[in-house]
Amino acid sequence: MMLTLTRPDDFHLHLRDGQALARTVGDALGQCARALVMPNLVPAVDTLEAVSAYRQRILAHVPKGADFTPLMSLYLSQTLSPETLLHAKAQGVLAVKWYPKGATTNSAQGVAHLEALEPILSVMQEVGLILLIHGEVTEAQVDIFARESCFIEEVLIPLRAKFPRLKMVLEHITTAHAVEYVRSQERNLAATITAHHLLFNRNQLLVGGIKPHFYCLPILKKEEDRLALVQAAVSGDRRFFLGTDSAPHARSAKESACGCAGCYTGYATMAFYAQVFERAQALDKLNDFAAKFGAEYYELPYNHGELVLEKRVWQLPETLPFGDTVLVPFLAGEQWHWQVVA
Ligand code: DOR
Ligand code: ZN
Repeated sequence: MMLTLTRPDDFHLHLRDGQALARTVGDALGQCARALVMPNLVPAVDTLEAVSAYRQRILAHVPKGADFTPLMSLYLSQTLSPETLLHAKAQGVLAVKWYPKGATTNSAQGVAHLEALEPILSVMQEVGLILLIHGEVTEAQVDIFARESCFIEEVLIPLRAKFPRLKMVLEHITTAHAVEYVRSQERNLAATITAHHLLFNRNQLLVGGIKPHFYCLPILKKEEDRLALVQAAVSGDRRFFLGTDSAPHARSAKESACGCAGCYTGYATMAFYAQVFERAQALDKLNDFAAKFGAEYYELPYNHGELVLEKRVWQLPETLPFGDTVLVPFLAGEQWHWQVVA
């Protein structure tokens, strides 16, 4: 069986930097025509100069004639000026990413509370820059499995009341609660859904031994949450679209007493989503989710060209070269039933 899609967009991708780019950009080229690149480098990508230099470093890994465009985002920090935001769109910046301080990988430079940045948000609202949100609270007393729900109630609802015209994306949603909330909002809110949150619940991480390659943030949730995410993804609702949050870490950083969060799905993105949609008997809905709804929300033209997948068994690699080390890709060594063939 073959499946032909419009070349997809990945609206949430970690390409990292330096030696990692050969891996991440090389893999992205085979899966999508555009990717919205996350700015959580060290130091964070929080000036237009940094965005432009980072874009150049990415493009250096895109062979001539390859159909791949990195879409850039800025890191929301205390130092971001209204001036920067006024010029951001003209420089090809689509969005500004808010990492609540301490929420995840490289979020130390993030902003804990947005109150002080309200003038910045007003400018974003006026110029039409999208706010990307890592939607988890970070207070130590809040249970890790409740952090997304708590964020929606305590942070997102008040924020949207203050900035009703600010377009937002709630990134990598993980709960039935988030699905419900996004569905309740008529405009200016959408959500990305990762392949790993569509495929697995928290048992995958914790039952039969702790499996660090399934540790990501927000953390995997219950089966009922996973089912709600699948429902949303295949429903044809334009507010839900593809964002992998593919986030590579070297094997030693994952297989550790204090392992990093992140799943490296980006080497086989579309194979993972195809299996989810097939199991839900909704393969006919994958093209909209992967190549249409995100583009519409970001007001971008659809991509040209096609990506072809075949249903055939292949073995996912055990490891992949990653700079001068290796990484363990998502579902390493497993048999999989879909593969990109052209
Ligand atoms: O699992 C994750 N990894 N979640 C994030 O929010 C960040 C990402 C990373 O950059 O490693
Ligand atoms: Zn991410």
